[in-house]
Amino acid sequence: MSIHTPPADWFKPPTGAERAWIGLALVWCLIMSMAMPYWAVKGKQNSSGEAYRVEPADFSARVDRFVAAHKVGELDGQPVVEPTPGGDAYLLGRMWAWYPILKLRQGQTYRVHLSALDLQHGFSLQPMNMNFQVLPGYDHVLTLTPTSTGEFSIICNEFCGIGHHLMTGRIIVE
Ligand code: CUA
Repeated sequence: MSIHTPPADWFKPPTGAERAWIGLALVWCLIMSMAMPYWAVKGKQNSSGEAYRVEPADFSARVDRFVAAHKVGELDGQPVVEPTPGGDAYLLGRMWAWYPILKLRQGQTYRVHLSALDLQHGFSLQPMNMNFQVLPGYDHVLTLTPTSTGEFSIICNEFCGIGHHLMTGRIIVE
């Protein structure tokens, strides 16, 4: 079978409902395009953009010191750690867990340091759906003020190997 050249007058301008749908799609595209810069400036979910270089082993040692100094309990074999309100908190992503479990207070602001030990992971806080890339070698600081109490799940949304789907963590807000 051969491919035929379409007739010269093949194009018919859209009319009626087709025209309306194209117009609607165009308007929606423009709204969504404007929403991106708007959200980048106004959205309260954005990263503070603060990041530092850090050796993964050094970050891991900081996390261990943080856990030793602020541990308040254990849940399912994981330490529960309560940072000082207004102070620093540490969260390490590694194959395949988020370490440790953080216990925060509603209305208090924390500087949460996020980094990875081994490879790239994806910090995804649920159900808020706040997402940040977590990379070894970078200490990414999030300024976080919990506005509601409860237990929040952290999942990994960057494929990181055979245990990726098991890589979960928790933040408890009281
Ligand atoms: Cu860590 Cu997927």
